[in-house]
Amino acid sequence: MFQSIEHCPEITEAPPLSCPGLTRASRGPAFDIRGRNRIAGSSPAMTKVEPIRFVYRRKNPKEDRVMARSATLENLVSSQFGSQAAAYVASPVHARGEDLRLVADEIAATRPERVLDLGCGGGHVSFAAAPVATEVIAYDLSSEMLAAVAEEAAKRGFANIATHQGTVEQLPFADTSFDMVLSRYSAHHWGDVPAALREAFRVLKPGGRLVMADAVAPVRTVCDTFLQAFEMLRDPSHVRDYSIREWQAMLAATGFTVRATTPGHQPLEFSSWIARMRTPPVFVEAIRALQAAMSEEVRQHFAIEADGSFVLDNAVFVAQR
Ligand SMILES: C[S@@+](CC[C@H](N)C(=O)[O-])C[C@H]1O[C@@H](n2cnc3c(N)ncnc32)[C@H](O)[C@@H]1O
Repeated sequence: MFQSIEHCPEITEAPPLSCPGLTRASRGPAFDIRGRNRIAGSSPAMTKVEPIRFVYRRKNPKEDRVMARSATLENLVSSQFGSQAAAYVASPVHARGEDLRLVADEIAATRPERVLDLGCGGGHVSFAAAPVATEVIAYDLSSEMLAAVAEEAAKRGFANIATHQGTVEQLPFADTSFDMVLSRYSAHHWGDVPAALREAFRVLKPGGRLVMADAVAPVRTVCDTFLQAFEMLRDPSHVRDYSIREWQAMLAATGFTVRATTPGHQPLEFSSWIARMRTPPVFVEAIRALQAAMSEEVRQHFAIEADGSFVLDNAVFVAQR
């Protein structure tokens, strides 16, 4: 698929010869660390630099998901989640948790008529809203996720859940048409969170509630960097786990009044965390290697266990339009 290094988006500089899934089809001269050709035998001072042009071909495109190419973040999200819809419906991490309980408490306290669940995934927030609300729209990029939610809603007897496909950055709903907008464990995949928040604000009635629940970045920069690195290795559709301060600033900048911020923790069992995203073995190894190489401070922050299991920081934000 990739004809040259310039067309391989995952590689930003001269790749190692062992670049997974790629074979070096035309072996050029040695390259220096700036990725440029060097004339054999010349001294560094006499080095003539020219752009390097290696041609790389995938060994077996069908077997190798590592180099799969996606035109947009939305394609990547859909391909990551589409085939895993059933796993997200069944996932105990998503079906339970203190954060889900807080979202459910807020729904019960608000008693909304119309609810919008952004990035509904396996539908657990929609299922929490359905017994209270008149109508729930489960909204997601992935048609497979929405089909799984519709099937599960029918099994649970929730006739008031409707599904709708689309991106959070552009909501196909009228201004001031919802009493509550909810979202859980989805925003770290969004390409433009401020745009999505503006849309949430637009579709909410004045006084309406937004409840955002997501993984959050730790305050310590080194822990933040580590988290984003292993999230990205696990799932290339990861964009960013924002910090609590970043969330509060984005919500306020949109015009929301932040009513409550509740930090929490989500223990994650490593093998099921990896299996849910079908993380390729090369990236699983990289996460494990990264975990082994981390400083004690980072290891302790995430409570990393021998099998790779760890504890994620999360938070629930309740905001009002
Ligand atoms: C981990 S799942 C959500 C879990 C679910 N909310 C729950 O509480 O169980 C993340 C979902 O966000 C969706 N998603 C990611 N980016 C999106 C976007 N920009 N617009 C709409 N949905 C998006 C994905 O398709 C996926 O189904």
